[in-house]
Amino acid sequence: MDLELEGKIALVTGGSRGIGRAIAGKLAAEGCDVALVARTEADLEKAAKEIARDTNRRVEICAADLRTPESTDAVESVVRSAFGRLDILINNAGAVRGGPFLDVEDDQWGDGFALKFFGCVRMCRAFWPMLKESNGAVVNMSGTFAQVPHHNFMIGGAVNAAVMNFSKALANLGLVDDVNVNCIFPGGVAGTDVLTRNTAKQAEIDGITVEDAMARNLAAQGIRRFATPEDVAIYVSFLASPVARHVQGINAVIDGGAMKGL
Ligand SMILES: NC(=O)c1ccc[n+]([C@@H]2O[C@H](COP(=O)([O-])OP(=O)(O)OC[C@H]3O[C@@H](n4cnc5c(N)ncnc54)[C@H](OP(=O)(O)O)[C@@H]3O)[C@@H](O)[C@H]2O)c1
Repeated sequence: MDLELEGKIALVTGGSRGIGRAIAGKLAAEGCDVALVARTEADLEKAAKEIARDTNRRVEICAADLRTPESTDAVESVVRSAFGRLDILINNAGAVRGGPFLDVEDDQWGDGFALKFFGCVRMCRAFWPMLKESNGAVVNMSGTFAQVPHHNFMIGGAVNAAVMNFSKALANLGLVDDVNVNCIFPGGVAGTDVLTRNTAKQAEIDGITVEDAMARNLAAQGIRRFATPEDVAIYVSFLASPVARHVQGINAVIDGGAMKGL
């Protein structure tokens, strides 16, 4: 299926590694020029070089810490000077840590919200005028802990639920301004730092090996396998594309069937 993404301009936060890297690669393969944001310049340069080589598309980078308000101007300036417009905003960056409730201090809670929630809010506010101009699309990354809370991953659950609520409100504004907004909810994604870190934390809490924790996690969810970053990238690219124009304000779960309720 042609996603009609040829010539679009996309911004992917957290685009240097993991799911964000896969999303940026898929959007470029579908014909988008992309801008990537993350903190580590070397990782951004590597991702940009690979994506440009594989797709022949233009890839710009911006090294910025999205937890800080100042990062907004830096990202906006890169997009404005390189492309002068934006069609697609993917708010993917997130690095929320887990841990037993009584061990998690205020600064960890603050850090989780600073990046994944406030980073997303600031990016949406900064780029909304451009997205309104292009009748563009936003996809915000949440996660299934938003709907199925876990007592050892409370920050992730709360932050993701906040992103989900914000996205629905923004989708309602998007109906006024003709911008598409949707939210995606992956379950565990194989080979990512987030899944490795969360599983290692669970293994430490339960006094078992990481391999056993991974196998127990899969068995408990009753799913065939974890997602790959590419599974998520395909769904996000569809949601961000003009062919999904009538899909507005949804919570797009991609968890292999782990969530058993409706
Ligand atoms: N992996 C999973 O199983 C899973 C499941 C559900 C939802 N999610 C969500 O999916 C998103 C991506 O997860 P992932 O597993 O792909 O993560 P990841 O592999 O750890 O990659 C995170 C990306 O975000 C960037 N980043 C981290 N802190 C940043 C900051 N302060 N400012 C700017 N960029 C920052 C990282 O680069 P730098 O470190 O260089 O900044 C990297 O590019 C997250 O929002 C996560 O909550 C993941």
